[in-house]
Amino acid sequence: MIHSDLKSRDLIAANWKMNVLPSESQSLAFSLCDLAWSENIEVLICPPFTHLFALRDLRKDGICLGAQDCHEALKGPYTGEVSALMLKDLNCDYVILGHSERRRMNPHEDQNIHSKIKTAMASGLNVIYCCGESLDIRIANAEKDFIHRQLKKDLFELEADVLDKLTIAYEPIWAIGTGKHATPEQIKEMHLFIRSALKSQFGLQSNVVRIIYGGSVNAANSDMLASIQEVQGVLVGGASLIPDEFKSIINSFNQRKN
Ligand code: 13P
Repeated sequence: MIHSDLKSRDLIAANWKMNVLPSESQSLAFSLCDLAWSENIEVLICPPFTHLFALRDLRKDGICLGAQDCHEALKGPYTGEVSALMLKDLNCDYVILGHSERRRMNPHEDQNIHSKIKTAMASGLNVIYCCGESLDIRIANAEKDFIHRQLKKDLFELEADVLDKLTIAYEPIWAIGTGKHATPEQIKEMHLFIRSALKSQFGLQSNVVRIIYGGSVNAANSDMLASIQEVQGVLVGGASLIPDEFKSIINSFNQRKN
């Protein structure tokens, strides 16, 4: 039901994090994606910045390209930073913003995410915005309050007419890189919660926002994830470096009946 009025294409996104050498990036990208998938699926690779030039023509092969962060300013004296316009110039379609690993590494990250999202969208990029609670918050049963605060701070002041550029990745921190994915019930509950928070804030226009899951996604759980109607794709870390795993994940979503 939901799929008919929501962003219709499922997103299968690879977040390579700080892995793979630039010289290895083309062969890995092509071996991750050497299969056919339906028009209902978008496949995306997000390598480190240093690999983007080598991968700038991926779209010719039907694969989208994205980055793992960008700066909130368009240009200027920010040594070591990378702007959204630079990403756009390298044919990026997407940028991941607010990943918990970046929030953890940079104490100021939380303050900047809203500005980064606005700058990225104004530069023509689609945004994969990451939210998710820590294990302590989950144990305290405070995950919904926590996610609501993240959404409110980072997203609720956006104009509704940019929502079609937004994908939200629900990535519980305790599931990232641990081999312990969230249960189907937890995933469904949190996706419905995020959907309803968006609807209260933005009304029906929020139906264009895509909501995906991340956290220990692999070939062994991708059929389960694809069976959850509310899950409109996945953000994959470790398993996106292993061709057979990533291709199985694509296949799970390829076979899903909407
Ligand atoms: P893993 O798939 O390795 O758990 O990483 C998830 C993630 O952080 C994707 O952004």
